[in-house]
Amino acid sequence: MMRSTPRAQTIKKNAHRNLRFGWWSLLVFLSLGGALETLHGFKIGWYVDVGNETRRLMFTLAHAHGTLLALINIAAGLTARNVDRFELRPSVSFALIWAAILLPAGFFLGGIVIYDGDPGLRQIARAHPTGSPFSEIRTAPIRKSLPLPKGSSRGRSVGGQLHLRVPKTVHGC
Ligand code: HEM
Repeated sequence: MMRSTPRAQTIKKNAHRNLRFGWWSLLVFLSLGGALETLHGFKIGWYVDVGNETRRLMFTLAHAHGTLLALINIAAGLTARNVDRFELRPSVSFALIWAAILLPAGFFLGGIVIYDGDPGLRQIARAHPTGSPFSEIRTAPIRKSLPLPKGSSRGRSVGGQLHLRVPKTVHGC
């Protein structure tokens, strides 16, 4: 059992935060599952028509990721409360909460308006790890350690992809 030192209290507080958030978030995303079920039940074309499959995919991804991240928040909270020496630092606690908000919200907003099979509000949909600004932070150290092709230099990163500056002579080839 954890003793009641100030440090233990902070850990407990973080654990409670993730637990509370997790249960509320589970309620929201299971309700979204219920809403999707209803759209299926009434065969609402805006959701089930073949031309709108991108919207359906985006909403399904929002539901699935939201539900699973809610469960992860609950699991993290319970683990921190019950396992000695498992520390849920404030940064980790908040990262779990923001991931559980931004990731499904990006999918959901991306599905509201779709353009020819592409999700709308693409900038927001980039909350997903493949395209988020956070991916820059995560992948930068790895990318910077990779060798470059001869004669090229490091360029800027757009949408998580590295754009190399290639010397003019190479363009002529
Ligand atoms: C722990 C609980 C749940 C988890 C982990 C979960 C996860 C998922 C996943 C991964 C999918 C995608 C399946 C696929 O496309 O192959 C999905 C789809 C779906 N889920 Fe859930 N789900 C949960 C609970 C619920 C509940 C309670 C409801 C309804 C009340 C629900 C309604 C739906 C519907 C309607 C779809 C299909 C959406 C579509 O394809 O249009 N889910 N769920």
